[in-house]
Amino acid sequence: MTDWLTSSAEVDWLTLSTEVAGCTACPELAAARSHVVVGDYPPGARVLLVGEAPGAQEDATGRPFVGRAGQALDAALEAVGLPRAQVAVINILKCRPPANRRPLPVEMANCRGWLDRQLSLIDPVVIVGLGLTAIAGLWDGAATAKKSDFVLRLLRERPLTAGGYPFLATYHPSGALRYGPNGAPMQALRDDLARARTMAAGGRP
Ligand code: URA
Repeated sequence: MTDWLTSSAEVDWLTLSTEVAGCTACPELAAARSHVVVGDYPPGARVLLVGEAPGAQEDATGRPFVGRAGQALDAALEAVGLPRAQVAVINILKCRPPANRRPLPVEMANCRGWLDRQLSLIDPVVIVGLGLTAIAGLWDGAATAKKSDFVLRLLRERPLTAGGYPFLATYHPSGALRYGPNGAPMQALRDDLARARTMAAGGRP
């Protein structure tokens, strides 16, 4: 039986997805992409994970975090008992930068409107920024311009907000993977996902 009765958030997400799919604000990215990767939004998700930009596998499938970084993310989520099917996952950029280069400031600015609409539509209890590009895009570009592990370690200690939501700054799964599945950064990522799960379980302050 077809479930034809969808919530207004689902309808809004579909509308947004259709609009983003036609975006040509970054001509270089629009010309090269196979898919615009809008993100995953299970209605009612309380935790929102934000990454950098789609990679090759994401561009090919149209889904976020399905490649190597995605597998590491899934494993970290599973380890802390936070099912991927219950979290929203989006990126700062919805299109893949060529050769996986870092998003340019102008591209991040062009994509900002979509990001803002996604934040208000998802209305999460907590946002987790995965890596310095996500932190720069959501929290403070200037503070993270010096891309270093040191900055990330400092930010992890601090109570932050982004767009009015509690915000946890943590490692990107690809960066964490460089130190192995049991390295300190991957453990930090798991710890931060566990914090997000606890915050979401507590509901809104
Ligand atoms: N890296 C990201 O930041 N996002 C993805 O969707 C995949 C890899």
